[in-house]
Amino acid sequence: MLDQIKSLVQEVQAAQPASAEELEVYRLKYLSRKGIIPSLFEDLKQLPPEKKKETGKPLNELKQLAEGKFKEWSEKLSQSTQATSSGIDLTLPPVPDTLGSLHPLTLTRYRIIEIFERLGFTVADGPEIEDDWHNFSALNFPENHPAREMQDTFFIDRNPDALLRTHTSNVQIRLMEKQRPPLRAIMPGRVYRNEAISARAHCFFHQVEGLYVDRHVGFADLKQTLYHFSKEMFGKDTKIRLRPSFFPFTEPSAEIDVSCFICGGKGCNICKHSGWVEIAGSGMVHPNVLRHVNIDPEEFTGFAFGMGIERVTMLRYGINDLRLFSENDVRFLKQFKPVF
Ligand code: PHE
Repeated sequence: MLDQIKSLVQEVQAAQPASAEELEVYRLKYLSRKGIIPSLFEDLKQLPPEKKKETGKPLNELKQLAEGKFKEWSEKLSQSTQATSSGIDLTLPPVPDTLGSLHPLTLTRYRIIEIFERLGFTVADGPEIEDDWHNFSALNFPENHPAREMQDTFFIDRNPDALLRTHTSNVQIRLMEKQRPPLRAIMPGRVYRNEAISARAHCFFHQVEGLYVDRHVGFADLKQTLYHFSKEMFGKDTKIRLRPSFFPFTEPSAEIDVSCFICGGKGCNICKHSGWVEIAGSGMVHPNVLRHVNIDPEEFTGFAFGMGIERVTMLRYGINDLRLFSENDVRFLKQFKPVF
């Protein structure tokens, strides 16, 4: 039996199973329940005790050798089948990493929030599907205001009234209904208007509303806040200009223009050769609006402003077509690097 073990050791050492099938033949021959090695263990039991000792050791060594070989070969074989059967050529260079980037409107919104947060403004949010009260009536829109007409506003239902908000000013009202002054918040969000789609208009766009209500808030606060914002957003040499305007919910009201930071005020295509670009509507909160939310206009005053995020983004990056923002063309979108 010792001789048989010796020659088996040589046989096992020389074995080179080259495929899964050959490995299985090897396993059946030496290791399976009816294989040679287990049967030698059966024979071992029949030997007299002194022989048992002498034969048991080499037999155990043979078993370990055969099992070790089996393990080694099955690992080798499974590695090579994995690589070839999945069709992956491990020698090829890797596919380039396609990391996404933030949408330019998101980048601008983040920057706007960052600037106003440093002035103590919080960020508030409100619904896009709104009722007449929050979108119009509480904001002092008269009953027959043209914005309420079907051609401007998307109505979902007239009664009970539900519409897609036409501006973020609805959040002003919702905020003042919930919280007492002092209030200082900006309210970014999506708004909807029934306009023909062109390079300058779309059926939806984004605004940021700003609201500051407290005792002794004056027009100078409005002006300085927007001046600071403009310099932070467009560069420290930026100037602002206020033009008288009208909004039902502010009195007095003003459009805010910034000096064109492309041509420095000399005149170019962006500013249509005027040296100024319009960025926001603004004004002192109308006393009727404060009354509608039970804030005493004798005690508190406030200012509000609203600007289009698309507008600011177009100026910031020199984009000339609004439609690019919603076409999801990766060639356009991947040009914007996050500025964290
Ligand atoms: N809600 C106005 C608009 O959509 C903008 C605005 C907001 C004007 C706040 C004044 C004060 O045109």
